[in-house]
Amino acid sequence: MSATDASGKASLEEQLEFVKQQLDHAQKMSALGELVSTTTHEFNNVLMTIINYAKMGLRHKDEATRDKALQKIFSAGERAAKITNAVLGMARNRNDSFDATNLQQIISESLVLLEREMSKYRISVQTQFDNVPPVYAIGNQIQQVLLNLLINARQAMPEGGSVLIRVTLDQADQMVALSIRDTGNGIPPEKLRQIFEPFYSTKSGADETGKGGTGIGLSACRNIIENHNGRIRVESSLGQGTQFTIKLPVVTNSQPALPTPTNKTPADSPTLPKEPFSHA
Ligand SMILES: Nc1ncnc2c1ncn2[C@@H]1O[C@H](COP(=O)(O)OP(=O)(O)OP(=O)(O)O)[C@@H](O)[C@H]1O
Ligand SMILES: [Mg+2]
Repeated sequence: MSATDASGKASLEEQLEFVKQQLDHAQKMSALGELVSTTTHEFNNVLMTIINYAKMGLRHKDEATRDKALQKIFSAGERAAKITNAVLGMARNRNDSFDATNLQQIISESLVLLEREMSKYRISVQTQFDNVPPVYAIGNQIQQVLLNLLINARQAMPEGGSVLIRVTLDQADQMVALSIRDTGNGIPPEKLRQIFEPFYSTKSGADETGKGGTGIGLSACRNIIENHNGRIRVESSLGQGTQFTIKLPVVTNSQPALPTPTNKTPADSPTLPKEPFSHA
């Protein structure tokens, strides 16, 4: 179908595509904004701990108090290093290209950033990682999906609860499955289809951490996973909880040649041509 009509006006399809792109961009920006504010907040918490225990150590001269203060400063310093690492992990992926991607690493880095927020809302997070091969994915986009799903899970458990993140290999279709299960309020069966539509939201607006309520999180997740030739599905039971599962293709020889995942530098990363890749 031609993109413009005889008068040179953009076709409806073209306008729709444009709006869709704007929407994806808006979600990306809002996800980035949330990430920046979460990271800054977390870092500030760590700094406060360091400053307060340094003050305590300076005030009290006895060895026991000083040892305790130094120990606290040491662990806060370690946490600060983890946060910096997680942010650097994102920066390493910033070229936004398909690459051999280690899901476990992206999950661990995302959890560092959400650790305090989860414990503030009394949510325990467990992970179960099988030994799986890397997937063919754009790391930053998968992290965006992961953060959307984890924040949704947190928001579904206002009284606290637990989240289980599992990574397994689906041998039959050579895909890695990543599931996020919460013990939250669940989704009514008749709404299960709607949740992936843009602007569908049951939240009255952003919560006290500034997150949620636009209704574009899951539609962005679906677009991203579809662009990866992956799958996303949801199972839920009211009052019991919800599980989202995403499946992503394992790196294979039919994809553009990739350097060994362990010893490559970001500059080596190949970029995928615009059309979707074929999955054997
Ligand atoms: N884990 C979950 N448990 C229960 N309901 C959920 C869960 N995840 C999503 N939902 C429902 O799906 C709706 C759409 O989710 P989506 O992430 O697209 O938008 P949102 O969270 O409301 O806003 P935002 O665009 O800011 O993320 C939510 O408003 C909520 O009703
Ligand atoms: Mg959301």
